Amino acid sequence: MMDLERLLRSQGFGSRRETRALIWAGRVGVDGCVCEDPQARFDPEGLVFAVDGVEWICRKFAYLALNKPAGYECSRYPAHHPSVYSLLPSPLLARGVQAVGRLDQDATGLLLFSDDGSFIHRCTSPRKLVPKVYQVETRHPVDDRQVAALLNGVQLHDDPQPVSATACVRLRERCVQLTVTQGRYHLVKRMVAAAGNRVEALHRLSIGGLRLPESLSAGQWMWLDATEMALQALGA
Ligand code: URA
Repeated sequence: MMDLERLLRSQGFGSRRETRALIWAGRVGVDGCVCEDPQARFDPEGLVFAVDGVEWICRKFAYLALNKPAGYECSRYPAHHPSVYSLLPSPLLARGVQAVGRLDQDATGLLLFSDDGSFIHRCTSPRKLVPKVYQVETRHPVDDRQVAALLNGVQLHDDPQPVSATACVRLRERCVQLTVTQGRYHLVKRMVAAAGNRVEALHRLSIGGLRLPESLSAGQWMWLDATEMALQALGA
């Protein structure tokens, strides 16, 4: 059991003073009723509460999927474009959610966020080879030689070992679906360049077993549950 004031703090609704003020002002509801007692105790597991009429479910850890639009940087302190963090509501930022891996400013698609440090570490560890699937639009037609090069391994400037895609399916003349397991800086762009082509647009379709839901439009985010995230972390 946890008192309401502490519960709200754990979910990113401010300091002790701020959460008390919210509760005393009658702005917090639990299970459909206004609760004005900061010390009222509840079982936090799955508790539904509302702040200013917006419903939240109490979660030990936050796991989110965002459909990243083009023109946003994955940094908290972006240099030239707005931050992807500006697309998330403030309680989630206050909880300290972080992007799990990154997408380039001009790339779009599935981006995960969490405040579960061990999950973020598992997903981003270079030893954990989580497959990521990208739809890649290219400047030039993709020929058989380029597909073979991507599958057999291409040489990048900063690595003596060739890097290969685990799958490369031509979808259209200038579009391939590419699966890579590493998460290095500009990896797909550099691989496609090394194969003799150029990336014009990059869209991430999935990470591990987790696909970008078609219902999620660019700029929108959604909650993911812990089961989905466990599947994702296993690369299932
Ligand atoms: N590879 C890239 O080149 N850019 C991304 O954003 C992701 C993978």
